[in-house]
Amino acid sequence: MVKIEKQDSNRTNKPKTQEEKELFREDYGCLPKPVLVEKYGKSWRTIEDWALENGFKRTIKKPQIIVDKSVFHETSYEDLLNLLKQYSKASEDLFAAKTVKIKIDTDEPVAIVFSSDWHLGHPGVDYTKFDNDINSILNEKNVYMYLGGDSIENMISSKILCVQRQIDVSLQHEFMYKVLKKMESKILAFGTGNHTLWTEAQAKIDSMRELASKLNLVYTRDGGLLNLTVGKIEYNILRRHQFRMNSSANLTHCIKQMLRLENDDFDVGVIEHGHVPAMEEFYYKGHKRSALKCGSYKILWDEYAQGKGFTGVMALNPTIILFPDKFEILSFLDMYQAFGVLRNLLG
Ligand SMILES: [Fe+2]
Ligand SMILES: [Fe+2]
Repeated sequence: MVKIEKQDSNRTNKPKTQEEKELFREDYGCLPKPVLVEKYGKSWRTIEDWALENGFKRTIKKPQIIVDKSVFHETSYEDLLNLLKQYSKASEDLFAAKTVKIKIDTDEPVAIVFSSDWHLGHPGVDYTKFDNDINSILNEKNVYMYLGGDSIENMISSKILCVQRQIDVSLQHEFMYKVLKKMESKILAFGTGNHTLWTEAQAKIDSMRELASKLNLVYTRDGGLLNLTVGKIEYNILRRHQFRMNSSANLTHCIKQMLRLENDDFDVGVIEHGHVPAMEEFYYKGHKRSALKCGSYKILWDEYAQGKGFTGVMALNPTIILFPDKFEILSFLDMYQAFGVLRNLLG
């Protein structure tokens, strides 16, 4: 017969002597829970009770994740602020000046042709008329040109790229460079428009500014004031590619609103983009002004104009004659009329 010894229910490894307590204090302080449970043969709760009775505390540290932050590069508030300020200044420097000053040193009257919206590259442009007109400007004495925006089609807006008809955009730019080079001596200033600014919208590169700086032309982006001195007389010309408050029934309306809202100190206001040419002379605050609206060479056909019902587009370039010794502006809707009058004035 196997004798079973009765287990003493009070049997415990509970530390009693000072020496056992000291040993337990050390174990409780630093050993992991499973090791303590195994070593003392008691549940974790019992072990915790013993520690509580004796006022022992665990000193074991929880695992800590230590990241060496020296490998990370943090940019300070001040660094970012300085960067933004420098970016702001550089961006402003890249932008065309709002006012440019040009002087034509002469004692004879001159004609300034305002031409824009050539849309070179689109198949609906009348290239024969375009070529004839720019050669006429080139060969006409005392005639200069202010070339505005949308000179090339440059249809690279992502929404309409796939359906637009145009020759390769790189060829448009190459041809534009050739035109500017050909007309270099005649161009007073050169600007851009919404079509030509699509390159900037897509790629942050103002391609017309690049062309202007390559040929050292005065660049006025999408608008600005030209303070033009002819001989002894100063004329102020405000040109914009676009301005709000357009009216297809009153074509010069937005130029009058430019006077009222933007700058009431210009003698000649020029607006582009609408493709329907117009010219009007009028008085505002007792001062005679000229309002000029440029035509377009996209006259053979234009899917946009036809689709939307726009009519009245003509390849006319409004022109003014300015005098060097008295303040006087003669305005013409058609540059060829101005050329005829200028020839008579020059004798
Ligand atoms: Fe246009
Ligand atoms: Fe335009």
